[in-house]
Amino acid sequence: MVKHMKKIILTAAAVGGLMLAVIATAGTDKANQSSTSADFEPNMKSAAKVVHPPYQMAKDDKDCSFCHTEKDAKSGALKMDMPDLCYQCHEAKDTKKFIHGPVGAGACTACHNPHESENMKLLRFPSINQLCTSCHADKGHFLKNTKHIHPPVQDQCTNCHDPHTEDYKFQLKADGKMDLCLMCHVEKKEHLASVTHKHGALERPRKCLECHNPHGTDTPRMLIKDTSKDLCLSCHNDKMEQDGSKLINMDKHLKEHPDHHGPILWGDCAACHNPHGSDNLRMLKKPFPESFYAKFDEKSYICFECHEPAKIQDAATTTATNFRNGTKNMHFVHVNKDKGRTCRACHDFHGTKEYPHHLRLKTSFGAINFPIRYIETPTGGSCAPACHARRHYDRETPKENLK
Ligand code: HEC
Ligand code: HEC
Ligand code: HEC
Ligand code: HEC
Ligand code: HEC
Ligand code: HEC
Ligand code: HEC
Ligand code: HEC
Ligand code: HEC
Ligand code: HEC
Ligand code: HEC
Repeated sequence: MVKHMKKIILTAAAVGGLMLAVIATAGTDKANQSSTSADFEPNMKSAAKVVHPPYQMAKDDKDCSFCHTEKDAKSGALKMDMPDLCYQCHEAKDTKKFIHGPVGAGACTACHNPHESENMKLLRFPSINQLCTSCHADKGHFLKNTKHIHPPVQDQCTNCHDPHTEDYKFQLKADGKMDLCLMCHVEKKEHLASVTHKHGALERPRKCLECHNPHGTDTPRMLIKDTSKDLCLSCHNDKMEQDGSKLINMDKHLKEHPDHHGPILWGDCAACHNPHGSDNLRMLKKPFPESFYAKFDEKSYICFECHEPAKIQDAATTTATNFRNGTKNMHFVHVNKDKGRTCRACHDFHGTKEYPHHLRLKTSFGAINFPIRYIETPTGGSCAPACHARRHYDRETPKENLK
């Protein structure tokens, strides 16, 4: 937008009325183009040729000397260096904290044709991304060869970067580590403000960029690692211990317990955890009881997102679970009551080693940690935890256990 009206009028007086006419042309020109100033519209190609008003004026008057040294501008020599030449009429483009390389160098015409153009804003390319990647060739290569590109990047770089100058690093329209993201991802802004179990990852220096690449990656959701598991474990390892975290070292735990639970096997910690925090224990996507004992309620177990609740709900069954004595469902017996044992009493849903079925070696009850001493048989099994003497279950020939 032409801001330095005073300057223009003063200059205009000097060149005898030319500039007043320029201002008049400017008005109509602006009106024609405001509708295409393209928020999220990739196509910068203009319907009609864009002629820079002072150039039109110069042509009409056969006098190019406002910008050039000669009237006919034969040599193309400029009367004044850029950007000052342009700043006679335009607001300065290098006033903020971070200035784009070519703007700082006064190379306005690297991007704009000073006379006329087929494209919006007198640009030298029909789309913003073609313009940017004409110099940032690495980003052009990136756009062609990256599987998951952030939609606003695919659209146009100027959704986030100002082409001239901005107060944020990389000429971003807001701080790129989080504020910028939340300008568009309003639902995330509300989520982060309201969740009760927040993720410490967002307190790390690079915030959203600890996990996402703002432009894109080969991984869905633009994650900076191949899987969410690799991502999580890049922090949840001994680095976290150094920070004084009380959480277990999940990387070490999984290395020492190589029988990994299904979703972890396929690399997806986010199947159960919400990396942006949640209202549930340990940022789980669905609830899970907090303690060893809990009143059973199907809705309080994230497990039933993938497993059939019948394995806990049906008192008698021949199919819902293998944890049964004849038809008596031992899952029902242990879990489905007012003071039921929660799954963590017997299973470790991250990884296990010694026993099958993700049964844990030891279970913790308050301050004590006791072994469950599980023994598997072809048709059942037995265990001898601190809760009771060894008891057996057998699917084919039900066992009698002493009370
Ligand atoms: C708004 C200022 C402005 C006006 C008015 C203007 N020019 Fe230019 N012209 C420039 C700038 C700036 C360059 C340098 C472009 C570059 O360095 O890439 C230029 C470059 C040129 C060149 C060098 C070759 C080229 O195209 O890059 C010629 C020739 C030229 N202008 C002719 C004219 C003629 C003829 C007129 C009048 C009809 C005119 N210009 C009016 C700004 C202007
Ligand atoms: C790296 C490329 C690039 C350079 C260099 C550049 N511009 Fe721009 N300019 C753009 C783009 C892209 C737009 C369109 C911005 C948009 O739609 O958000 C634009 C828009 C403009 C506009 C119209 C909208 C506005 O912001 O007022 C003016 C005037 C302008 N530039 C002047 C200049 C001047 C003067 C210089 C040199 C100091 C310059 N530009 C250097 C890319 C550039
Ligand atoms: C004599 C005054 C004058 C000079 C000098 C001048 N411009 Fe302009 N420019 C205008 C007017 C008037 C407009 C139309 C009003 C508007 O769009 O803001 C305009 C529009 C533009 C636009 C936007 C075109 C669009 O489609 O919206 C760009 C980009 C631009 N000028 C770049 C430059 C660059 C780069 C220079 C220096 C090489 C320059 N101008 C020098 C007066 C001037
Ligand atoms: C005419 C060539 C040219 C064009 C076109 C161009 N740039 Fe640049 N860009 C540069 C140069 C030169 C630098 C400075 C490089 C440096 O400092 O290492 C730069 C720096 C940057 C930086 C900062 C990089 C850093 O590491 O500090 C960003 C971000 C950027 N450009 C984005 C864009 C965007 C977005 C566009 C399109 C609107 C664009 N560029 C178009 C030449 C260009
Ligand atoms: C969704 C917002 C967004 C869009 C759209 C976007 N960028 Fe960026 N860009 C960023 C953020 C955030 C950073 C800072 C990254 C960092 O701190 O590591 C950045 C950094 C950069 C840098 C400097 C660091 C680097 O990666 O080399 C360049 C150059 C750059 N962007 C160019 C572009 C180009 C070219 C486009 C269009 C193809 C584009 N950007 C589109 C958000 C965006
Ligand atoms: C200019 C608006 C804009 C900005 C700024 C922005 N995004 Fe996006 N983002 C979108 C749109 C539009 C989509 C596609 C629709 C959707 O999934 O909501 C998207 C999608 C995403 C996706 C999902 C991609 C997929 O594979 O489905 C992630 C992750 C994402 N953005 C992260 C970020 C991060 C991190 C930042 C800050 C660096 C950010 N966004 C900044 C507009 C934006
Ligand atoms: C600890 C790593 C991590 C951090 C930090 C992080 N994300 Fe994500 N984000 C992910 C993962 C993993 C997914 C895929 C989730 C899934 O598959 O359910 C994702 C998905 C997304 C999505 C697309 C799906 C959805 O949940 O809407 C958006 C948008 C998104 N993130 C934006 C952001 C923004 C904005 C920030 C910063 C406020 C941020 N992320 C911080 C790991 C992270
Ligand atoms: C950038 C580092 C980083 C990444 C990546 C990361 N985390 Fe975290 N995570 C943290 C920090 C820091 C804490 C807080 C530690 C503390 O409170 O001791 C935390 C805490 C947690 C907690 C405990 C939350 C609570 O409510 O107590 C869980 C669960 C968790 N992360 C899971 C994940 C999962 C799943 C992923 C992958 C999607 C992941 N983390 C990726 C740094 C990270
Ligand atoms: C099947 C669902 C599920 C998957 C998949 C899953 N978790 Fe968990 N995670 C849980 C549950 C449930 C808890 C709460 C356990 C408890 O309190 O006993 C938990 C707790 C945690 C904790 C806190 C541990 C502590 O010290 O108390 C961390 C850290 C964690 N998970 C990280 C991860 C990481 C990293 C992955 C991927 C490698 C992952 N989780 C995959 C369900 C899951
Ligand atoms: C996202 C889906 C998903 C969720 C949620 C889930 N699981 Fe699983 N689970 C699986 C898959 C797939 C398998 C089969 C692969 C394997 O044995 O790990 C499995 C297997 C198991 C097994 C071993 C089966 C056997 O006979 O070896 C147990 C025990 C188990 N899950 C317990 C749980 C518990 C407890 C929860 C809740 C904390 C839970 N699961 C949540 C997907 C899930
Ligand atoms: C008292 C210990 C105990 C508790 C508590 C327990 N399980 Fe199990 N679970 C077992 C045993 C033992 C097996 C192995 C059955 C067999 O194959 O012999 C098993 C097997 C499983 C299997 C494999 C398929 C099947 O049913 O045979 C899944 C899935 C499972 N449990 C999920 C859960 C879920 C979900 C919870 C919590 C809601 C839970 N378990 C609570 C002991 C327990």
